[in-house]
Amino acid sequence: MEENKTNINWFPGHMAKTMRQIRDKLNLVDAVIEVLDARCPKSSINNALKELIKDKPLLFVLNKSDMSDPLQNELWLKELNKETITVLVDSINGKGTIGTIEKALETLLETKIKKDKELGKLTYPIKVMVTGIPNSGKSTLMNSLAKRKALSTGDKPGVTKNQQYLKVSEKLLMLDNPGILWPKFENQNQAKLLSLIGSIKDEIVPINYVSFYGIELIKELYPTYLINRYKLSDLDKDSESILLEIGKKRGAIKKGGEIDFDKSCDIFIKDLRGGRLGRMTLERIDRPL
Ligand code: G4P
Repeated sequence: MEENKTNINWFPGHMAKTMRQIRDKLNLVDAVIEVLDARCPKSSINNALKELIKDKPLLFVLNKSDMSDPLQNELWLKELNKETITVLVDSINGKGTIGTIEKALETLLETKIKKDKELGKLTYPIKVMVTGIPNSGKSTLMNSLAKRKALSTGDKPGVTKNQQYLKVSEKLLMLDNPGILWPKFENQNQAKLLSLIGSIKDEIVPINYVSFYGIELIKELYPTYLINRYKLSDLDKDSESILLEIGKKRGAIKKGGEIDFDKSCDIFIKDLRGGRLGRMTLERIDRPL
C-alpha cells in the first residue's frame, strides 16, 4: 500500500476572508484571545493573527489541557509565555477557568487599566474577541464560561447596534461569534499534525496519509500507548503493518477475510482524537516537525 503523497493544499481565500472579519471587529474589543490546542501548541498558532492585530493585546489560551501531556503542558506554558501571556485551561471541566482568564487579561491590560484609572474612565467589563483554528475549543470555552453566570447577550453602547456580546462575568464580555482562523501551515507535517487532532477536515487530508504519520509519531513519542491500547507484541515494523494489526485486533475484516485498511486507519484516528490512547502532546519544543 502506497502512502498517499498528495500535497495538502492551502486555501488563501478562506484565510483572507477571516482576517478581514477579524480586522473589522478589532475596534470593538480590548484584547484578543487565541485558543490553541495543547496537543499541538505551536502549530495551532496562526502567526498572521499577530501581524493583523498589531498592538492589540493577545492572550494565548492553551485549551484541552486534560488531553495533553501534563509535563509538556508545563514546558509549553513556559515557552509560549515568552511570546505573550499564556494560560492553560480545560474547557470541558472548566474549573477555575474564568478566574484564570480574567487575571491573565488584567495582567495583559495592566497599562490600559492604570491609564483608565488615572483618567477616571471605566475599564470593566473588558471586551475580548475569541479566535483560533477549527476544533480548538472556542465554542466550548465560551459556553463553559457563560454557564457559570446567567448568560446574557446585549448591545453595548458605543458599538455597532447588532454586535452581540456574551456576558461572562461582571468583568468580562466576549464577542459571541468566535472568529474561526484557518490553520496556516508552513510544511506538510504541520498539516498532518493538525489533521491528526481534527482541525483540518478529513476530506482535505486523506485519512491514511494522516494515519501513517500518526503511527510514526506515537511510535516515537508514546510507544506504550500503542502497545497497551491494541495489545501489540512489539512495534518493530512499519506503520502500514501496525495499522493492519490494529485492524485485525479490532475485527476490521472485509468479506473475503482481508483486513480492511481504511477501517483500520479510521479506528486508530478516532481513538487518537478521542483521547483513548492516552494524554499526549504531539509537538515538542525541541523537535522539528
Ligand atoms: P471550535 O469552536 O473551536 O471549533 O471547537 P468546539 O468548541 O466545537 O470543540 C471541538 C471539540 O473539542 C468538541 O468535541 C468539544 O467538546 C471538544 N473540546 C473543547 N474543549 C475541550 C477541552 O478542554 N477538553 C476536551 N477533552 N475536549 C474539549 P465534540 O463535541 O466531540 O466534537 P467533535 O470532536 O466530534 O468535533
